[in-house]
Amino acid sequence: MTKPVVLVAEELSEAGLAVLGADFEVRHTDGADRSQLLPALADVDALIVRSATQVDAEAIAAAPKLRVVARAGVGLDNVDVEAATKAGVMVVNAPTSNITSAAEQTLALILASARNTAQAHAALKNGEWKRSKYTGVELDGKVVGILGLGKIGQLVAQRLQPFGVELIAYDPYLPPARAAQMGVKLLSLEEVIRQADFITVHLPKSKETLGLIGDKELHEVKPSVRIINVARGGIVDEGALYTAIKEGRVAGAGLDVFAKEPCTDSPLFELDQVVATPHLGASTHEAQEKAGTQVARSVKLALAGEFVPDA
Ligand code: MLT
Repeated sequence: MTKPVVLVAEELSEAGLAVLGADFEVRHTDGADRSQLLPALADVDALIVRSATQVDAEAIAAAPKLRVVARAGVGLDNVDVEAATKAGVMVVNAPTSNITSAAEQTLALILASARNTAQAHAALKNGEWKRSKYTGVELDGKVVGILGLGKIGQLVAQRLQPFGVELIAYDPYLPPARAAQMGVKLLSLEEVIRQADFITVHLPKSKETLGLIGDKELHEVKPSVRIINVARGGIVDEGALYTAIKEGRVAGAGLDVFAKEPCTDSPLFELDQVVATPHLGASTHEAQEKAGTQVARSVKLALAGEFVPDA
């Protein structure tokens, strides 16, 4: 009897592959390379991706046998859920697998941005002992503005409390009383932008959030503000951010995500005030193990025609 085919288009943890076990024919491809991905989809029953594979209408049309697309992570912005649903393809993700890792990466970038850690490290390794150049700021007493108080935003708020910061947030979907229980004051986007010393983004990428922090908003911030984005590239307009830092309207930024990825060449990388990492929010052993096992379990259930509970 032929086994159902599972196409793994990006790296999946060993633990995830172990969950798939011997019941399936597991194939691998480079999902970021369309010339490999499209032909590889011809006879697959399931597709497992992270964020580099665009599972758009064209990819779904190239996979006539496809029954389930699994996103080993939270965001579904690289999957055309509407096209999948129309084609009768189930879409599953691992919505809590990497939230702790993403929140911890946010803290890392907030602190690195406040204390010029990456820049001072690079300078020292280059033989430069520069103490005053890399004078930073404390978090204590500062106002941190969280854009999006969902699962990750909430973990970030919780982890920031012991630093003695004042927490404010913009989240149109959360009741103010719930935010207050977490010690966070809900405000309008405009107010958060005006009051914050640090702004950290925890929103999904959508038509509504793309360019949310653009030229206009970056004219309204405090010049001491540092902007952190571990959510999705494009929510903070990269061109507007570059100009704002250059003109001294923004003090710095910590960026883990970019409008176009992979991103190895950006004007932002020329700025000493920018600390950047290559979309590492979910890149921990723990998160990858959870994401891999959660989606592998969902794929197994979906291909067996069984109910797939929320992971
Ligand atoms: C997510 O949306 O969960 C992350 O971007 C995952 C990833 O790094 O692939």
